[in-house]
Amino acid sequence: MSTVKLRPIDEELLPRLLDVAVAGADPEEVMPTVPGPSGWTPERRTAFGDHYSSAPAYAIEANEQIVGATRLTPAEAPGAAEVGIWLARPARGKGHGTEALHLLVEEARSRGVTALIAETTTSNEAAVGALRTLGAKLWEDPESGAVHATLRVGDWIEGGIGR
Ligand SMILES: CC(C)(COP(=O)(O)OP(=O)(O)OC[C@H]1O[C@@H](n2cnc3c(N)ncnc32)[C@H](O)[C@@H]1OP(=O)(O)O)[C@@H](O)C(=O)NCCC(=O)NCCS
Repeated sequence: MSTVKLRPIDEELLPRLLDVAVAGADPEEVMPTVPGPSGWTPERRTAFGDHYSSAPAYAIEANEQIVGATRLTPAEAPGAAEVGIWLARPARGKGHGTEALHLLVEEARSRGVTALIAETTTSNEAAVGALRTLGAKLWEDPESGAVHATLRVGDWIEGGIGR
C-alpha cells in the first residue's frame, strides 16, 4: 500500500520538484501558460519556480518519492481557493491523486478555507474521477467540454468522503 504525504515546498524541494516536472509532465499540465516555443524553456522553468513559491504549495510524496505537486490559489469568493494538482506520468492512475486531494482538503480546512474549486475538462477522466470521488459537485458545459467543480470543505468533513 502506498503512503502519500504532502510536503510544503521550500528552497530545497523546489529544484527537485522541477526535475520531476521536466522529466514527467508537460508545462501546461503544471502551471499557467507561458508564451514561447514548446517544451521546458528557461522561461518556463523560471515561471515554475515563481508559481510554486507564491501560494500555499505542496510536493506530493508517494512511497518516499516526490511525484508531483498541489497548490491552493486564493479565489475571488471569500473563503474560496482554487486547487491545482499534477503528478508525473509514471505516478498517475494509482490513486495517488485522490489521496493527495484528501490531504489537501484537510490542509485547506486548517487554513480557514471553506470552499474549494477546480477547473478541468470532460476529456480529463482522471481529474474528473478524483474530484467526483472526493465528493465535489461537478458542472459540465457540454459545448466547451469544461468541467467546473466545487467542494464545500465543511460538507466534506461532516459528510465524509464520497457521500
Ligand atoms: C489528474 C491527476 C492529478 C489524477 O491523479 P491520479 O492519481 O492519476 O488519479 P487516481 O488514480 O487517483 O484516479 C482518480 C479516478 O480517476 C480514474 N482514472 C484514473 N486514471 C484514469 C484514466 N486514465 N482514464 C479514466 N479514468 C481514470 C480512477 O479510476 C479513479 O476513479 P475512481 O475513484 O472512481 O476509482 C493526474 O492524473 C494528473 O496529474 N494528470 C495530469 C495533470 C492534470 O490533469 N491535473 C489536473 C488538472 S484539474
